[in-house]
Amino acid sequence: MRILGIETSCDETSASIIECQNNKIKLLSNIVSSQVKLHAKWGGVVPNLAAREHLKNIIPVLKLALKEAQTKPNDLDLISVTNGPGLIPALLIGTNVARTLSYVWEKPLIGIHHIEGHIYANFMNGISTISNDQLPMTQKKSNLKSQISFPILCLVVSGGHTQLVLMKDHLKYEIVGQTLDDAAGEAFDKVARILNIGYPGGPIISKFAENYKPKNRSCGIDLPRPMINRNNFDFSFSGLKTAVLYETKKHPRLLKDKKYIIEICHEFQQAAIDVLVSKTIKAARKYNPKTIMLAGGVAANSGLRKQLGDAIHENMPATKYQIPDMEYTGDNAAMIATAACFHWQRTAKAQKEKVLQNWKTLDTDANLKLK
Ligand code: KG4
Ligand code: ZN
Repeated sequence: MRILGIETSCDETSASIIECQNNKIKLLSNIVSSQVKLHAKWGGVVPNLAAREHLKNIIPVLKLALKEAQTKPNDLDLISVTNGPGLIPALLIGTNVARTLSYVWEKPLIGIHHIEGHIYANFMNGISTISNDQLPMTQKKSNLKSQISFPILCLVVSGGHTQLVLMKDHLKYEIVGQTLDDAAGEAFDKVARILNIGYPGGPIISKFAENYKPKNRSCGIDLPRPMINRNNFDFSFSGLKTAVLYETKKHPRLLKDKKYIIEICHEFQQAAIDVLVSKTIKAARKYNPKTIMLAGGVAANSGLRKQLGDAIHENMPATKYQIPDMEYTGDNAAMIATAACFHWQRTAKAQKEKVLQNWKTLDTDANLKLK
C-alpha cells in the first residue's frame, strides 16, 4: 500500500510517500523544507511565522513529493499527518491540508503522534520486525543482532521531549522516565543562545565540541550532571543550562575566545551525554530490553550515538543497539508515514471503514500524549 505523510509540527514543512508491505518500508520520496534560517534571527521558533511559512510551502512540498514518487492521488491508500504535540498554528496547517485531501480524494486519514514518528524513523529502510516470541528457538540467538526485537527501550531526545519509553510491542508505549523541566535539545538551543553562537544550538555545539582537545584544556570548567545519581529514570536540564550561564558570567570577556567556547561546549555536551547514557543504562538494567533505541533530533549528536553504543556494548553486550539514519533524526514526514503503516496494519477491517470519515473529526492537540 502507498501512504502519504505530512509533518508541520514545528519549523519543517515535509511531505513523503512510502510503499509499505508487511511492515517493510520502501521510501519513494521525502521532501523537507526547513525554516531554520528564518527563525535563527529570533533565536527560536516563532509559532505564527512558522505557520505562515508552512502555508506558503505545503502545496509545493506536496506536489514535489508526489512527483518524485511518481504517484498520483489515486495511487494513494492512506493519508497520515502529525496531529500533535507541537505548535498549534503550525500543526493546524498540516492537519487541515490532510483533512481536505482526505475529503476530496476520498482516502482514509490517520493522525500520528510526533514522537511516535521519531521512534518509527528506526523502522525505515526495509527493516523487517518480528517479536522474539515469534521466532523458532534455533533462530532466536542469531536474530538478536539483526532484528529489532521487543521489548525496546527507546531514549527519545528532541527539542520538545526527553523521555525513556518502554515498548513491549508495536505501538505500545510506557513512559518510564522523562525530563522534569527542559528537553535535551532545548538545553542545547538555550546554551548556544547564552554563548551567542547561533541557532539551532545542537549541531553548532556539537561542531565546537568535536574540536575539543583535552591537552588544550585551559579553564577547567566543571559542570554538574543533574540527577545522575537519583534512583529514578527522570532527567533535568534546566540547572545545567543555568550553570553554563553562571560560568560565562564569571568570564564575560572569554565569550570571544574560541578556545573557551570549544571547552564549554565540550563540557556541556559531555554533561548532557553522561546523564542520558547513565539513565538509559540504569533503566535497561531494570527492564531488560532486547533492543535499546535512540530517537529525535538530538539523536544526530555523534558523541551521544557513539557513547550510548559503547556503554551498551560494555554493560549489556547481548542487547541490540538501534539508531536512526542521520537523515531521519530531524523532523520529516517519512517517519510519520512509517508509523502510519504500522498503525494501519494493526487496524481491524471494520475500523478501517470509519477511518474514511476521520477528515470530519481529526483533532489537533499541542499536548497530545503518547499512548
Ligand atoms: O526532533 P527535532 O528535529 O524537533 C523536535 O521535535 O523538537 O529536534 C530538534 C532539536 C533541536 O533542539 C536541535 O538543537 C537538536 O534537536 N539537535 C541536536 C543536534 N542536531 C539537532 N542536538 C545535539 N546535537 C546535534 N547534532
Ligand atoms: Zn521532532
